[in-house]
Amino acid sequence: IGKKILHFDVIDSTNEYAKKNFFKLENGAVILSDEQTKGRGRVGRGFISNRGGLFFSVVFHSKLDISKLPIYTQLASVAVFKALEDLSINAKIKWPNDLYINGSKVCGILTELVGSKDFHGIIVGIGINVNNKKDEFIKQNICASSIEEETGLKVNRSTLLEKILLYIDEIFLDYEKNSDFIKYKPILTDNSLIIGKEIEITFGNEKTIAKALDIDEFGNLIIDFNGQISALNAGEVHIKM
Ligand code: BTN
Repeated sequence: IGKKILHFDVIDSTNEYAKKNFFKLENGAVILSDEQTKGRGRVGRGFISNRGGLFFSVVFHSKLDISKLPIYTQLASVAVFKALEDLSINAKIKWPNDLYINGSKVCGILTELVGSKDFHGIIVGIGINVNNKKDEFIKQNICASSIEEETGLKVNRSTLLEKILLYIDEIFLDYEKNSDFIKYKPILTDNSLIIGKEIEITFGNEKTIAKALDIDEFGNLIIDFNGQISALNAGEVHIKM
């Protein structure tokens, strides 16, 4: 992947572009933009995408098993985690799709399904606040931060992108071949922001408090809700610490 990188200065959303042009884009193509005017987040939310961040989408045609969408999101978070680790940055993974540093969100991942019944694929969209300034988020009343704000390190965005793409390539190919998600579970659980903690879960308008226990082989979050153990699917839930 990443042999073809389409680099925009500004775009509405790299996921939107990848979706619209899915059939014209080759497998592994990357859509990259320095800024997004309508960055998309999970559960219909937006994603603030100011200059200084890294915003990109990777296009995958066919072979991937689309019923495993939540697993791909988590494999992508493993790729981002490992790329940051290589740069001596210790992030925490917040199931199902965010990365945090010092308790602040610096990365969000949005995996989307595309296609028709005979041809399909997925788009993995990754947004990382790298060198963005925190006051931009504060101004917009958004609780987020950037790698630079949290670590003092000025990371080169191209280096970070290159590393993430290499890990995505390696991890996704390995998963496609061996269907072994459990292999990546220790990275997700050992570096989890929420496992072992009390979390607030929102489904639609309903809020509950539960304890996050583990991640299962399907990428579901195992929770303890008043002694009742259940598995949460990533689909519609919103989790707060
Ligand atoms: C979330 O925090 O809920 C997920 C955010 C995903 C943001 C990335 S930025 C690149 C790609 N294009 C988008 O419009 N969204 C994703």
